[in-house]
Amino acid sequence: MKLIYLFSVLGLLYACNTTHKLNDNVIDENIEFAYKQIGNEIQAIEKSGKFMNPVTLGKDGRTYYCKYTDWRSGFFPGSIWYLYELSGDPKLLPVAQKYTQALKEAQYLTWHHDIGFIINNSYGNGYRLTGDTTYRSVILQAAKSLQTRFRPVAGIIQSWDTKFGWQAERGWDCPVIIDNMMNLELLLSMSKAYADDSLQNIACTHANTTIQHHFRDDYSTYHLVDYDPETGAVRGKQTVQGFSDDSSWSRGQAWALYSYTMMFRLTGYQNYLLQAGHIADMLLRRLPADGIPYWDFDAPALASTPRDASAAAIMASALVELSGFVPAAEGERYMAFAEKQIRTLASPEYTAPAGENGGFIPRHSTGAYPFSSEVDVPLTYADYYYLEALTRIKRRLQP
Ligand code: GLY
Repeated sequence: MKLIYLFSVLGLLYACNTTHKLNDNVIDENIEFAYKQIGNEIQAIEKSGKFMNPVTLGKDGRTYYCKYTDWRSGFFPGSIWYLYELSGDPKLLPVAQKYTQALKEAQYLTWHHDIGFIINNSYGNGYRLTGDTTYRSVILQAAKSLQTRFRPVAGIIQSWDTKFGWQAERGWDCPVIIDNMMNLELLLSMSKAYADDSLQNIACTHANTTIQHHFRDDYSTYHLVDYDPETGAVRGKQTVQGFSDDSSWSRGQAWALYSYTMMFRLTGYQNYLLQAGHIADMLLRRLPADGIPYWDFDAPALASTPRDASAAAIMASALVELSGFVPAAEGERYMAFAEKQIRTLASPEYTAPAGENGGFIPRHSTGAYPFSSEVDVPLTYADYYYLEALTRIKRRLQP
């Protein structure tokens, strides 16, 4: 990583409109920090001579890496694409390409719904930034793989299979988690690219069914709804990663906000914008003053209760996007809240000094509290959405 590229990033940023309240050192410094921090992580992996995809730090302080089938495998390549975009550093292009291509086999995954997270964040960003049509073919195949999980009578895409693993022990027929909404970007982007209405119809059907059954009157969401795929009847509403069946698991609320904002961006349908606005308003009412949720909104709000920085990063990125779709006063409110979240995440409480935190950016995320798994740790998806939020803010600042 050459300093010259850092200076060009800073030069680009200083060229932006200097009167906007967000164009301050917090954004500039944190892009520079991310460039160094993730740059060190890339160098360490490259030195090992192996392909590795970092996810988090284990209790022993060692980095945990995942396989391409893991729902988190697209985030590290996606973060490299964002750093490439933010820095313009041409040296990052082959690195982003290499870590993206390592996920090629994922395009054929049909045994879980997470193919959207995996392919969209890696190949999707690659296609957005390079226009490489071989990437588009992979994304299309991935969309077709996801399509195999659509259950037309229930009008949803099934999240998990129930024939093996821990999901086989819960008595579900056709479980759908709110996280699944995030996978729809894959279908909508390919529907547009190939003028294939059937992909958009599936995405909208899933999103509409989810509005009907996942959300409560206050626009908070259940984590999981189990359907009868033969009749479409709802068999139950539960949590898997949250505090209780009736609670509001923080990352689930973040996925809901992000995904309905994305649905509006890619379809233009007002009902999705309305849904996203209601979710945002609910979150702004309920979030702690520093903008970082406890791991579940209904967990006791004690100093010892873990936070979830990943949920805050997802929300911040979504709020920046949503702020561009709504009337100015509302947009200012969403943008100001996103700014607060980014400032907190960038503070020493959440961002460790360079070289620490295993090469990740924010500390204090929570993966799956009820499983005692990844509690109060850095997580690759917190990095990804943090970088995306910085990218979106920077884009908004450009004249
Ligand atoms: N399944 C994605 C998450 O844990 O948020």
